[in-house]
Amino acid sequence: MHNNLYFYSNIQRVRKHLSCICKILLKFTPIITILLFFKQKKVPFSEIIPDNYVDIHSHLLPGIDDGVNTVYQSAYILEQFQKIGIKKVITTPHVMQDVWPNSSQTIRNHLDTLKEILPTLGITEIEIQTSAEYMMDDLFYQRIKENDILPLYKKYILVEMSTFSAPINLKEILFEIKMAGYTPILAHPERYSFYQDDLKKYDELKESGFLFQLNLLSLSGHYGDKTKALANQMINHNYIDFVGSDVHNYYQLGILEQGFYSKVAQKVSILMKNNTIFY
Ligand SMILES: [Fe+2]
Repeated sequence: MHNNLYFYSNIQRVRKHLSCICKILLKFTPIITILLFFKQKKVPFSEIIPDNYVDIHSHLLPGIDDGVNTVYQSAYILEQFQKIGIKKVITTPHVMQDVWPNSSQTIRNHLDTLKEILPTLGITEIEIQTSAEYMMDDLFYQRIKENDILPLYKKYILVEMSTFSAPINLKEILFEIKMAGYTPILAHPERYSFYQDDLKKYDELKESGFLFQLNLLSLSGHYGDKTKALANQMINHNYIDFVGSDVHNYYQLGILEQGFYSKVAQKVSILMKNNTIFY
């Protein structure tokens, strides 16, 4: 008798608990439904690549900068690019005094070696050319004066600054760039921390003749929230002329391939069309 009473009182307790849980679930069901409705899915990168998109910023020549180390790594990334529909890549090894002072000839030689190997690995549907990402330092100043430059295309060149400070002789360098007839495209303007709080600085750069190339990885938050927010802001204010992957390795390729939430994906897809002038 005593055992029966104990058993029934336990059943009552369990029932009470279950009814409590059900009430809580019913109360929050509308909120859960709304959250699920608004939970966005990412649009894969492969789905937003326009015809004749050219990637104009990457580090795919093995062993000459902080990009890929071997031809196989390079081939793998190019194979993935090929699979997702990119038909042309202009890869841009760093040229940076004291760190990677690559000569134009070194860069050309590395491209030739890579191009010889790619067909043997079955990579035949993607065209690869080379230019460089020039740090605007004394070495670049000298190269510009000697007209020893690898342009992206026609007179467009890809340049960068340190992420900590702008070159003190920026005006002088820009003058030489213009004298030589080049149009500078500033790589990843959204990543320069010293400009990030002041959009007027970007206005000055644009007015002085720089075009802007946004890193797609900035929109994925790869360089931090502040850079991501600024990247979005720059797109919304029409500061961006071109985009680039700036892929150095498999990890960054993986992030890129995940794509973007639909609103960002739409904007990126429109911007990517600008890169078709390099085709
Ligand atoms: Fe780069």
